[in-house]
Amino acid sequence: MQVKKEASEPITWLTCYDYSFARALSRTDLDLILVGDSGGMALLGYEDTTPVTMDEMIFMCKAVRRGASNKFIVGDMPKGSYEILVAEAVKHAMRFCKEGNTDAVKLEGGSEVLEQVRHITLSGIPVIGHLGLTPQSTTLKGGYRVVGRTPDEAASLIRDAQALQEAGAIALLLEAVPDQVASQISSSLRIPVLGIGSGSKVDGQLLILHDLLGLYPDMRPKFAKCYVPSVLGKFSEHLNSIENLIDSGRSTRNDGLLELTVKCVEEYVNDVKAGLFPSRDYTYAP
Ligand code: KIV
Repeated sequence: MQVKKEASEPITWLTCYDYSFARALSRTDLDLILVGDSGGMALLGYEDTTPVTMDEMIFMCKAVRRGASNKFIVGDMPKGSYEILVAEAVKHAMRFCKEGNTDAVKLEGGSEVLEQVRHITLSGIPVIGHLGLTPQSTTLKGGYRVVGRTPDEAASLIRDAQALQEAGAIALLLEAVPDQVASQISSSLRIPVLGIGSGSKVDGQLLILHDLLGLYPDMRPKFAKCYVPSVLGKFSEHLNSIENLIDSGRSTRNDGLLELTVKCVEEYVNDVKAGLFPSRDYTYAP
């Protein structure tokens, strides 16, 4: 990731929660996978991410690792696993590493989690910070909204971003941050700054796989692009080029959702690399 930032090559990141989709992602050029606690909603049907447990996260991480042994996988620390006691945070991060077989962990928050970031890093586990809209604490922070529109909020984001970098974070995710503020943070930090709903002027993009596939029925934020309409033509051409769909499907499974997912993800990866995603349609107003 660091090499890509230094070479100004956009970094691509998607969520994943299970084996079959992980197999699809493993066939693409995607850089990173996030086993997000959003899996509690997309996979398990919870209303929000609050109830997600460590055991559920480990269960998802193990499945994703089985499907994507070639990818850098980030485990998302669920609510209640790291906020208060540093020792608990290290213990839970270690479970991600030893049981979930992840390469790094992500946790939400700024100045209040610096000790956790320092100690998890000291224990040898890379940490990715998460600022802006932090879904695990939306009730306290005014709900689901763009964060950083006022000068005070922007200044506080910039301070927290610097502090996370100094505490040892290897990268930072900004969620729903105005693009000018996100751009300022990404150009002032050494570490890669990735965005979700934070415009195009950052070092890379994250999307929820279920949004990219139009698979999550309950909501879709403005920044989420469904890639199915963009690749459906290519997918039909691919099907039409196969002589015997039944035989081909049986032997290679190239006739259905697995192939369509690969095509959607490839299109997303190409768009991010070419600076085509997120366009204005998928960016919050300043
Ligand atoms: O759980 C997740 O997928 C996340 C993203 C919403 C950033 O943390």
